[in-house]
Amino acid sequence: MRKQKVHIKSFGCQMNKLDTEMVTAAFARAGFELIDSYEDSDIVLINTCSVREHAETKVFSHLGRLKHLKKSNPELVVGVIGCMAQRLGSELLNHDVVDIVCGPAQIPQIVDMVREAIGTKQKKIRVKEKIREKNSDAETQALENFESVYDKGDKRIPGQAFVRAMRGCNNFCTYCIVPYVRGPEISRPHQAIIDQIKRLADEGTKLVTLLGQTVNSYEYKAGDKTYCLADLLEMASEVDGIEWVRFVTSYPTQKYFEQIMNTMADIENVCNYLHMPAQSGSDRILKAMNRHYTSGEYLGLIDKARTIVPDISIAGDFIVGFPSETEEDFQQSVELVKKAQYRNAFVFKYSPRPGTTSEKRLADDIDAETKKRRNVELLAVQEKISEKLSEEFLNKKVKILVEGLSKKPHLNKADHQGNPQLIGRTAEDYIVVFNGPTELAGNFTTVKITKTSPLTLFGEMI
Ligand code: 5AD
Ligand code: SF4
Repeated sequence: MRKQKVHIKSFGCQMNKLDTEMVTAAFARAGFELIDSYEDSDIVLINTCSVREHAETKVFSHLGRLKHLKKSNPELVVGVIGCMAQRLGSELLNHDVVDIVCGPAQIPQIVDMVREAIGTKQKKIRVKEKIREKNSDAETQALENFESVYDKGDKRIPGQAFVRAMRGCNNFCTYCIVPYVRGPEISRPHQAIIDQIKRLADEGTKLVTLLGQTVNSYEYKAGDKTYCLADLLEMASEVDGIEWVRFVTSYPTQKYFEQIMNTMADIENVCNYLHMPAQSGSDRILKAMNRHYTSGEYLGLIDKARTIVPDISIAGDFIVGFPSETEEDFQQSVELVKKAQYRNAFVFKYSPRPGTTSEKRLADDIDAETKKRRNVELLAVQEKISEKLSEEFLNKKVKILVEGLSKKPHLNKADHQGNPQLIGRTAEDYIVVFNGPTELAGNFTTVKITKTSPLTLFGEMI
């Protein structure tokens, strides 16, 4: 019998990318063929993100494109998985082209759902009815089994893997949809995480990134001991074959902070990289966001990080145009960006998410143009800082893990030995572009930096 062809399109954060890899691996194990284009597929799955409205609009326009495909191939099965599936549930199922809706907690059932949909030609939905209710032991076990059998995905960057440390979030920042679509915070058993890292290392993984919405609040109690992120980092760094360990994303809090930074300083394999969103520099806005710190406390953590790990590279996230944000509030974000000296900052325009506290209680009163202007201005401030930090690398040698071919080879053609342009990253997450043989993908190499731009370093292999 001909293998059924599945195409999976993925939107959103690392957590979603990891889910996509797991789903891809599950379909491959079940005998399906994974293909890159949706045109020739029997099944199209879309793994969706709800964090901003724009992410959801993109999914709807993708569904629109699939309409034509379904007209020419009525047998096509279309499934929507991930955060939008949980958020919109039956509303999505009513969409003309959608046959399957499956939330993040039901993801272990996705292969069976697809098989049923092919067999019965009936629409299927599985989402959690009460998302803030703790998963049953059976659900947690199913997720754990799905997670731990997953090992090597085809799509992954060679030599690298993401491993989930935690699911969900309990923080309820007022703008954020995550607690309503990913459910309550739960830390995976430390042993399951480490066993998974060992398997990944056996398959050639050198860099593992531990994932969690607030990964620094990882806590798992086993017997008399409570394992925290610092323990996980130490154990992961001791796994044979693992040369670099990273973690994202950190919530700005004192708890475990020093311990995690000390681990970073003491253990060479733990990358000197911290992604710790501030969201705003205004204490009034931070309070309205239900973030449990002031800008002063946030900067205190940054100082502490730099004292313990002097060459740490720090990245942050900001939201501009949060309800009632005045020019003065915004300038405080500008000030914070200047003081924090991030290696990189991600800036987002506030997008009210249905059902969140800020959407329900606060008017989205900053007009689109002001949001855009503040976004551009904050990025420009950061760009200057990034430029200066990048320049410090000129003529220095850096160790990088090579990812593969650069996506923009036209910028710099093959060198005189015919080597194409490759891309790699330093432990501190600086992108490095250089010419080298493609076989280097997934391996470490050393590059001397000859040119810099705010977000990219350019160099020559030595
Ligand atoms: N609007 C805009 N940005 C948001 N983020 C989360 N929710 C929203 C929202 N409603 C941003 C935050 C977070 C990042 C992943 O997305 O900055 O850190
Ligand atoms: Fe959303 Fe806040 Fe949780 Fe991050 S910490 S996922 S911003 S609620």
